[in-house]
Amino acid sequence: MRSTICHKTLHLVFFNLTLLLVWLKITATTPDGGVGDYKCIDKERDALLHFKSYIRHDPYGILSTWTPNGKEEAIGDCCEWQGVQCDNRSRVTTLYLNNAYLEGTISPSLLNLSYLTELQLESNSFSGTIPTFIGSMTRLEFLNLGHNDFSGRVPSELGNLTNLQSL
Ligand SMILES: *[C@@H]1O[C@H](CO)[C@@H](O)[C@H](O)[C@H]1NC(C)=O
Ligand SMILES: *[C@@H]1O[C@H](CO)[C@@H](O)[C@H](O)[C@H]1NC(C)=O
Ligand SMILES: *[C@@H]1O[C@H](CO)[C@@H](O)[C@H](O)[C@H]1NC(C)=O
Repeated sequence: MRSTICHKTLHLVFFNLTLLLVWLKITATTPDGGVGDYKCIDKERDALLHFKSYIRHDPYGILSTWTPNGKEEAIGDCCEWQGVQCDNRSRVTTLYLNNAYLEGTISPSLLNLSYLTELQLESNSFSGTIPTFIGSMTRLEFLNLGHNDFSGRVPSELGNLTNLQSL
């Protein structure tokens, strides 16, 4: 009798330990943060880094969290970067960089953010003409390019953005 209880207890302890180990494995974070361990999609992270490389001046350091090889998982995961929002499958859906006073031009790498629905770039110092490639970002629902240093006219290609709710 005594040994049966003992056996059962041991069994329970073992079972709980197994559960704990499984749980630890599921929730474990990657300690070294090596390339490829990140949560967000590589192609989208590269696109954002390319976008950053077109920024000449970032007076408030808004893009300082945008780094390729952060040691902490949260840094390498582009879904955690400031101004970036992802959907529940870690695809970038929103770029919110209003009032950041960024200076530079807009990289066509944004085309690789295939799930982007919101591009908010108001009150920056983006220059040059408004890129025509934005007309190919067909999932866009919200586009805000106000208060920048763009020259020229609004490209007719933007008329192709049939999902647009707000410009
Ligand atoms: C992810 O989001 C979509 C819609 O935004 C929803 O239909 C789906 O159920 C969500 N999936 C999970 C696993 O939360
Ligand atoms: C999109 O990403 C691919 C690599 O995944 C790259 O070769 C290509 O140049 C990128 N496109 C743009 C417009 O940056
Ligand atoms: C987009 O708009 C331009 C100019 O309005 C047009 O020439 C082009 O065929 C349209 N379609 C695509 C996919 O760019």
